[in-house]
Amino acid sequence: MYRTHTCNELTDKDIEKEVTLSGWVHRRRDHGGVIFIDLRDRYGLTQIVSDPEKFADAHWLMDKARSEFVLKISGKVRLRPDNQYNKNLETGKIEVLVSDIQILNEASPPPFEIDQEKQVGEDLRLTYRYLDLRKDRLKNNIILRHNIIKDIRDFFDKEGFLEIETPILIKGTPEGSREYIVPSRIYPGNFYVLPQSPQQLKQLLMISGFDKYFQIARCFRDEDQRGDRQPEFTQLDIEMSFVDEKEVMNLNEKIFIELTEKYCPDKRILSKPFPVLTYKEAMDKYGSDSPDIRFDLELDDVSELVKESEFSVFSNAVKNGGVVKTLRVPGGGNFSRKDIDEYTEMAKAMGAKGLAYIIIDDDGPRSSIVKFFKEDELHALIEKTGAVAGDIIFFAADIYSIACASLGRLRLEIAKRLGLIDKNLFAYVWITDFPMFETNGETGKLDAVHHPFTAPKSGADLLSSPETALAKAYDVVLNGTEIGGGSIRIHNSDTQKAVFKTLDISKEEAEYRFGHMLNAFKYGAPPHGGIAWGLDRLIMIFASEPNIREVIAFPKDQKAKDLMLGSPSQIKKDQLTELQIKLDLKE
Ligand code: AMO
Ligand code: AMP
Repeated sequence: MYRTHTCNELTDKDIEKEVTLSGWVHRRRDHGGVIFIDLRDRYGLTQIVSDPEKFADAHWLMDKARSEFVLKISGKVRLRPDNQYNKNLETGKIEVLVSDIQILNEASPPPFEIDQEKQVGEDLRLTYRYLDLRKDRLKNNIILRHNIIKDIRDFFDKEGFLEIETPILIKGTPEGSREYIVPSRIYPGNFYVLPQSPQQLKQLLMISGFDKYFQIARCFRDEDQRGDRQPEFTQLDIEMSFVDEKEVMNLNEKIFIELTEKYCPDKRILSKPFPVLTYKEAMDKYGSDSPDIRFDLELDDVSELVKESEFSVFSNAVKNGGVVKTLRVPGGGNFSRKDIDEYTEMAKAMGAKGLAYIIIDDDGPRSSIVKFFKEDELHALIEKTGAVAGDIIFFAADIYSIACASLGRLRLEIAKRLGLIDKNLFAYVWITDFPMFETNGETGKLDAVHHPFTAPKSGADLLSSPETALAKAYDVVLNGTEIGGGSIRIHNSDTQKAVFKTLDISKEEAEYRFGHMLNAFKYGAPPHGGIAWGLDRLIMIFASEPNIREVIAFPKDQKAKDLMLGSPSQIKKDQLTELQIKLDLKE
């Protein structure tokens, strides 16, 4: 038997017991002939100690043991001397006097220290991920992940949902990203596509009559990586029949609250029920459709007040159909030139052409642009933004989306720098009433904002004014991160065809790509809707981690590489031949 107990189990109740433990050498100390080792397993640490006089053989092997060696030891539990209790350990009152020891495996010196949270380059950590996972922080994240997923399964089971697996080798499902493609050997020249989400399949399950479905689903998206994105990630995917938006949102809200209270008891949920903002309200006020509402700093629109002004940057922006938006920062009047230059660069990175500002001094407004405004215009600006002495007002004059995005970005950065974010707050917010479509900057065509299966709100005229059509879609945002999104779906083929038409998908193409959906709608499709959570993102926030790689056992790096396995990698020539694939690589 390898062990009678784990390394986190023994206490002063076990004194005098003969025990056997197995684990890794976490730390080893040589105290003048007596060797102490902290033996580690998944559960914790136990101090084991040698006695060269009584158990010379065991002592000799403990002397040989080095960091990360795997040991099996047997011995008697004894109390540590009073002054040597370790209050930080469950097993801190005892130690095991080793009478017998077996080195189960030796270990090369690890490329980084496992027993300390030192800064280690991420590439090294990812290359040796199996060692990285030995560290407490990552181990705890993986355990948290398990627990949350287990509770999710229990919750949805209790609510009458069925967990149903859907295939990974499918025909593409459009969620706006590039797809990962898998060649077929049996049908040369044909390809499977990995799902960006189970979207179409879960809708088809509704047509099958499974009115409450969920799945912990792996999704694949070939897109640029960021801290909260991975090429493969996990969704909690949900679909329900005979529901409206509110019912989907309420059910999700219930479990978000349960999970938060259980796993983050020290966090205060900003508002229950969760606040609901329309997309327009969120953009207007926060310059983002995933706003962090843990702090105020709201934007204003001063287009009306400056449209006739002599400052042509502002007046022309409005005349050309754009807007002038403002961000007032209380106390920002003392920002240095350097601060302002940095903020200007940030705004420009979001597409802004510049970042005008006015500082309100005790004796009035000050700025290089003040001279362009009449007294009453300045007065109106100050009143509209609520600025008082000591504040700064930033201005973005541009098309609506750029003005929002640049000030929205600034709002976040300033809140961080000024310490306005209450870290004990969990600010959930629903965003609703998204537009159905947006113009793709590259192609000039309309794209679906959510996906093409989302139902329009009543009154939307898809064919004559698609730009103004709103969707029955909802996102859930936590502390400024979009953690989920869903919608009520189209359930008849006429509306679905109209949406495809608006998206400039020809009849033939719609038939080729989505014929199965259009066909299925003919056989009694119930009204249905659902949502998917970015599970990695939720767990990242619950674990207070800065990126989702920290809560995924084997993540890809920021360039979509698996540094541990070394993928993607070339495959053998025979494999390509078998697939009848020839490479034509550019230099
Ligand atoms: P959506 O595309 O909004 O909706 O995805 C749902 C949620 O998944 C998370 N997410 C990601 N997480 C990590 N890495 C990624 N690359 C990534 N992409 C998305 C986000 C997002 O809110 N089929 C629809 C859902 C539905 O309509 O029911 C869908 O996939 O947190
Ligand atoms: P200029 O007249 O170009 O010297 O600009 C005067 C101020 O307006 C500078 O602070 C610029 O950063 C700012 N500015 C220029 N273009 C814009 C714009 N589109 N929106 C907001 N501020 C701008």
